[in-house]
Amino acid sequence: MSSTTKQKRTVNTTGSAADFIPPRPTLSKLRAAAEGCRGCHLYKYATHVVFGAGPARARLLVVGEQPGDVEDRAGKPFVGPSGKLLDRALDAAKIDRDSVYVTNAVKHFKFAREARSERRIHKSPNAGEVRACRPWLEHEIALVKPDIILCLGATAAKALLGRTFSVLKQRGVALESEWAPVVFATVHPSAVLRARHGEREAAERAFFADVKKVGARLSRAKPAAKRATRETGKFSAWPTTAHRSRTSSARTRSSHA
Ligand code: URA
Ligand code: SF4
Repeated sequence: MSSTTKQKRTVNTTGSAADFIPPRPTLSKLRAAAEGCRGCHLYKYATHVVFGAGPARARLLVVGEQPGDVEDRAGKPFVGPSGKLLDRALDAAKIDRDSVYVTNAVKHFKFAREARSERRIHKSPNAGEVRACRPWLEHEIALVKPDIILCLGATAAKALLGRTFSVLKQRGVALESEWAPVVFATVHPSAVLRARHGEREAAERAFFADVKKVGARLSRAKPAAKRATRETGKFSAWPTTAHRSRTSSARTRSSHA
């Protein structure tokens, strides 16, 4: 990186999306404000910011990692190959995709260009980028107040459940957390799509089985009662990043099914 680029980065980014959260946020105000986010350097390379989408009162909120190539062009989350697989899993679990709020831990696509083809290759966001972007996700969760959150992949799971959380060890398990009455984590659909020949079917079956557990839980939960409890509970409506990063944790519910 040249020194001029370096200098530009320091000048143009604030280090946190918190600096761009509007007063008295609503989902549509947040979505509009995210267009101008300069919380980290990723905004410079992507085509669009990809904010969450779905009903403001969704009972299920799904968190992915970051938009992919297709999402970056469309400006919408989960509309590419991973999104298609997610749609099929939701369908198999009898969850109406239109009833789900879908979002990502990081709102701008991070990629590297392949030298010859100019193809954009997905690069995983680092911990600093996830931290910088998290205020958007925190506010989406605080506004939607989902009964259940489903984290897809390690980036989403670690962003909400702490750095030491292991998706492979705790996939498909109902967890209690400060974010929602129930949080599930499973693999990212792109991991299923990348699975080696011969392992793909098993990977897809396991992913579908995890999403089915979410569906079963959703149909068992009583939405209205749960929402009322949350509103009078310990959850603060506008969490600060500092508070979240100190307290992010999850524990396994002893009584889960
Ligand atoms: N992968 C993600 O994590 N999110 C998207 O929106 C698309 C692909
Ligand atoms: Fe802001 Fe997140 Fe985009 Fe970084 S990735 S510029 S924090 S919206």
